[in-house]
Amino acid sequence: MNKNLRKAVIAGNWKMNKTATQAAQLIDELIPAVKDAGCEVVICTPFTSLVTALEKTKGTNIHVGAENVHFEASGAYTGEISADMLVDLGVEYVITGHSERRQYFAETDETVNKRTLAALNAGLKVIVCVGENLTQREQGVTEELVRMQTKIALQGVTAEQMANLIIAYEPVWAIGTGRTATADQAQEVCAAIRKVLAELYGQAVADATTIQYGGSMNAKNCEELVSKPDVDGGLIGGAALKAGDFATIVAAASK
Ligand code: PGA
Repeated sequence: MNKNLRKAVIAGNWKMNKTATQAAQLIDELIPAVKDAGCEVVICTPFTSLVTALEKTKGTNIHVGAENVHFEASGAYTGEISADMLVDLGVEYVITGHSERRQYFAETDETVNKRTLAALNAGLKVIVCVGENLTQREQGVTEELVRMQTKIALQGVTAEQMANLIIAYEPVWAIGTGRTATADQAQEVCAAIRKVLAELYGQAVADATTIQYGGSMNAKNCEELVSKPDVDGGLIGGAALKAGDFATIVAAASK
């Protein structure tokens, strides 16, 4: 109903896949495949492929993002990348709070919040990921958990900055498992997230915020998922590595 108030965004999350050479090949296939997109198209690549991605996509409708960012501006943080470093390259988007970062790299709601703020303050657009694991779903706490993750991630984010923020609802049990949430499950949680945004920022901001679904979204199930009223596109892992599949998902979100 309010879908025309916000942008549908299909973002690829390449994770730890593709060398820069392989990235160049994939982008060469993607450019013609998504050139007529009616939605925003983003590819989030490993840090090592960002320069290649930015050069290749110049003058196209593909936007480039990173998969993580550190919260400090600079300093003794061996191996980390700051928001300013990304902005200086020309990177536009960044993902924060992906469940793999939370699970394998000890990220917490608090550090997700700090990374989100640092990225927004540097001028990046941020895709913040939230989502429950299987135990939490079975315990019936999905909505409470996602509400909490969302509220903590957004601490200190202003209503104006919400124009540069996307939320990706990614149930952990659906990521990389081939087990997708049903369209109704995705809709239910995306609507609950929009309700939290309305409580925090008012209905106008909530209606204008893009909320994606992510977790085994593919060329077959994308159409039903993105047709739901509160699902404004997707964050795509595995299927983003195949140009044809990614283009099919982009086309579904363009309708
Ligand atoms: P998947 O990953 O599409 O491979 O399940 C989604 C994600 O982790 O963002």
